Amino acid sequence: MSNNTFYVTTPIYYVNDKPHIGHAYTTVLADVLARYHRAAGDDVWFLTGTDEHGQKVEKAAAKNGMTPIEQCDSTVVRFQELWKRLGITNDDFIRTTEERHQKIVRAILQDLYDRDLIYKSEYKGYYCVPCERFFTEKDLVDGKLCPDCKREVETIVESNYFFRMSRYQDWLIKYITEHPDFIQPAFRANETLGFLRKPLEDLCISRPKARLSWGIELPFDSEYVCYVWFDALINYISAIGYGVDQARFERYWTSCIHLIGKDILTTHSVYWPTMLHAIGLPMPKTIFAHGWWLTKMMVDKQDGGTECVGTCKMSKSSRPGMHTKVVNPMDMADKYGVDAFRYFLLAAMTPGNDAVFSEEDFLQRFNSDLANDLGNLLSRVVKLSIKNFGGKLPAPPPLQPLEMELLSKAGLAVKQLENELNAMKLDRGIAAVMNVVREANKFLERTAPWTLAKEGKTDRLAAVLYTAAQTLEIVSGLLFPIMPEKMTLLRRSLGLSEEEIVKTDFQSLREFGNGEITRTMVDMPPLFPRILVEKKPEDAASAKPEKQKKQEIKAAKTKDVVVPEGMVTLEQFFRTQLRTAKVLEAERIEGKTRLLHLKVDLGNGDVRSLVAGIAQQYAPEDVIGRTIVVVANLMPAKIAGFESCGMLLAAKSENSLKLVTVDGGSDPGLSVG
Ligand code: ME8
Ligand code: MG
Repeated sequence: MSNNTFYVTTPIYYVNDKPHIGHAYTTVLADVLARYHRAAGDDVWFLTGTDEHGQKVEKAAAKNGMTPIEQCDSTVVRFQELWKRLGITNDDFIRTTEERHQKIVRAILQDLYDRDLIYKSEYKGYYCVPCERFFTEKDLVDGKLCPDCKREVETIVESNYFFRMSRYQDWLIKYITEHPDFIQPAFRANETLGFLRKPLEDLCISRPKARLSWGIELPFDSEYVCYVWFDALINYISAIGYGVDQARFERYWTSCIHLIGKDILTTHSVYWPTMLHAIGLPMPKTIFAHGWWLTKMMVDKQDGGTECVGTCKMSKSSRPGMHTKVVNPMDMADKYGVDAFRYFLLAAMTPGNDAVFSEEDFLQRFNSDLANDLGNLLSRVVKLSIKNFGGKLPAPPPLQPLEMELLSKAGLAVKQLENELNAMKLDRGIAAVMNVVREANKFLERTAPWTLAKEGKTDRLAAVLYTAAQTLEIVSGLLFPIMPEKMTLLRRSLGLSEEEIVKTDFQSLREFGNGEITRTMVDMPPLFPRILVEKKPEDAASAKPEKQKKQEIKAAKTKDVVVPEGMVTLEQFFRTQLRTAKVLEAERIEGKTRLLHLKVDLGNGDVRSLVAGIAQQYAPEDVIGRTIVVVANLMPAKIAGFESCGMLLAAKSENSLKLVTVDGGSDPGLSVG
């Protein structure tokens, strides 16, 4: 075992409704990190749980005709069942209604109160129930909407208790500046620092029971309950024994990485650090905010069809007048298998950025990456080895350059995955591994073992199959934490013992690939049977007679479209997501005469940092407030020290540059095309 500890947490989810794909994403990501670290021999602790107090849950209970605790008890099992189904290996599951948590919250409240860090005062403000957040008048959009989710807020005037958060503003700015790893990705740290440019106010941490009774009672005033976020954040320390089992707490706490979605950045990057500092505790190692899974917003058209008018966050609450698809992760797992679903979530999203979820993309990736590339490689290697050597490969003669090349690429992928994982760029690590799988298939096509077999070139055949089998062992070891069930089957088929199957640490995988294979391979049914994709029958198309539909599907499948050099198909074009964006802030970059650093709003809370080469034509004040067009799914890059997530469009010649703007302005986030 290494000396490293690794403590990973997910947000604790609200129990007002059943889990959806966003919850599944964060939890699967945490699980995969935990599994990689366990494989490396680290002392891992993985925590998830549920956030059970507050107005949101109380309202849901009332709506469902239940008491709040009945609402919690009935919903919590849906999360727990889902995690079991998705192979989540959490070490603990905390519910904020448990006594082990409540007593720590009470102790912390009392301590802060005793030290005058909590005081009572009159409060006037605005409250957003879906976000469970307070806002001041100047925060509001159009004087009445939540700046985060754009829903209407409630006005509140009452006496309440406050935490002296404002005291820690300078300390927090300094801490974030001096610890570049603390808030990740870096542009989220900048966002937090941007938030901290305005004076930080004290945090209201209570609710009068007359208005909300579902919460932890304040130990110093029984007329009040604790604000749900103040209660919830403490789960990260109450669950690992803070105040109860100090040794366990200290073992894990400072290695902690909080995985969260960008929707809850401020509570984690401002409230939580100031709370911890006031309590007298060190900071967690990292707060990592990932992006959102988005869904297409469809509206009904006059002609009876539907039209996609943009994307929005995939969540439980629906929007009036639009159909958005909330994908139930349980259904996805049942339909396509848990491991394929886990694979898709991680391969298709760059942690930090948003991604659009669609079942079509899922199927496309399933068939190409898993069925065609990985599944095929396994079945070729195993079948040829069984047919020619009874499944037991002889010791190969010295390997030739082609073989050496493939094995060295596989070795390189180990390093790449390890690096990308540490940089939280798991999708890139996966891409590197899948690249080796494709290389291995190409290698088989070039060396043509089936021909070698026919020609009786046994030595060469053994060397080729040996190389491909070794590559598969490495690749399957690397993908093991992502697809534990399927990789177990794969490695069993390669003839590995149960002990070898789970030996997937990077060190062993790196050292691998140069010994004799003494195992016997066994055949198995296809690992990822190809899923037949019917061309999505649009509403109108589904009314067509069965025969015509079948013919169309057949035609679509056999049609081998050749795209001429230099042209793109409509589908390829639409892979570039063009969206409207509003410029919120703009500033010059010191020493860079061509560049402006912009903050742009892409709608639904998606605010990004972007660097654009327009400073010679536009002053910052010329662009602020304009609606521009942005390539939203461009790989982020660091330009002149700033994160640049997207690219704006401009019409250019050698000596002029004009911004592409939207006629009459528009809402941010609309799709352009
Ligand atoms: O905010 N894409 O709980 P919550 C990606 N109880 N991830 C998403 C997502 C999406 N579309 N939607 C949700 C709360 N998530 C509080 C947390 S922590 C002390 C208290 C994920 O049920 C993402 O991790 O609203 C996000 O931060 C979390 O679910 C919010 O879950
Ligand atoms: Mg939420």
